[in-house]
Amino acid sequence: MNPVFLHPERPHPAKEKLEAWLRYYEDLGIRSFYRDRCSPAGKFPAPEPAAQEQALPAAVPAAQAAAPAARAPAQPLVPGTGAKVQGIVHGPSLFEAAERVEGDTLERVCSDLGDCTRCKLHRHRNKIVFGAGHAHAELVFVGEGPGHDEDVQGIPFVGRAGQLLTQMIEAMGLGRDDVYIANVVKCRPPENRTPEKDEVATCMPFLLRQLAAIEPKVIVCLGNVAAQALLGTHKSISHFRGQWFDFRGAKLMATYHPAYLLRNPPAKGEVWKDLQKVMALLGLEPKKRSR
Ligand code: URA
Repeated sequence: MNPVFLHPERPHPAKEKLEAWLRYYEDLGIRSFYRDRCSPAGKFPAPEPAAQEQALPAAVPAAQAAAPAARAPAQPLVPGTGAKVQGIVHGPSLFEAAERVEGDTLERVCSDLGDCTRCKLHRHRNKIVFGAGHAHAELVFVGEGPGHDEDVQGIPFVGRAGQLLTQMIEAMGLGRDDVYIANVVKCRPPENRTPEKDEVATCMPFLLRQLAAIEPKVIVCLGNVAAQALLGTHKSISHFRGQWFDFRGAKLMATYHPAYLLRNPPAKGEVWKDLQKVMALLGLEPKKRSR
């Protein structure tokens, strides 16, 4: 192992990292910290720079977009199997797990997530909902967090809102196996409440690693939580819904959450307009209706 040479007048590198980490959480408005007794002790995630908030032209000509290439079938991943011994996670700490890894894969992210107890959401969950779909999908949908049905099955968007999302994907001429579906938090918040800031901050490094491993062309955020988490903004989705943003080499757009559409069906028209922009970018044809 290489020795660490410390400069007498400079702060210890660990102190600098810790300070950066604290600044990151303070920017999120988090000033107190929860530590689970079962979690690996005392290590923290590296700060994630907020996404560049940049409005792009509303539509990009379809000709610029390559047709989706043939891809291998989806591999369902189940985190945590065999990782838990006497209630202690034997996996990397959040600090280590959040590190960017060259050539990262979904399998590796899933294995690093393990039987996660890094935030308080693990206490009430039934199954971790890691994400599902194509490992190198051109299109990724990001929701808020699992609900009851997802928690039971360990698969994202399988309840009523999920069925509507499936219809939306099919209307775009795709199937669920052609896209990837993930959430900001991977464990169901009790009573389906909105995930709290510390829960989002703890789960985000894993979502960011999933997105980096998939390398999608387009990310669609479903609802406020996903949009705010990925764009690093507190603004409501109504301010930027349907606009393109650059996000780490992908185009990102936020649209309404399918659960909102179940409560407010007239908004479906707005969402369909947004999805048509996505289809134009990806060179997709809408599904032909059979008579
Ligand atoms: N709502 C979400 O945001 N995600 C799911 O997986 C299900 C419902």
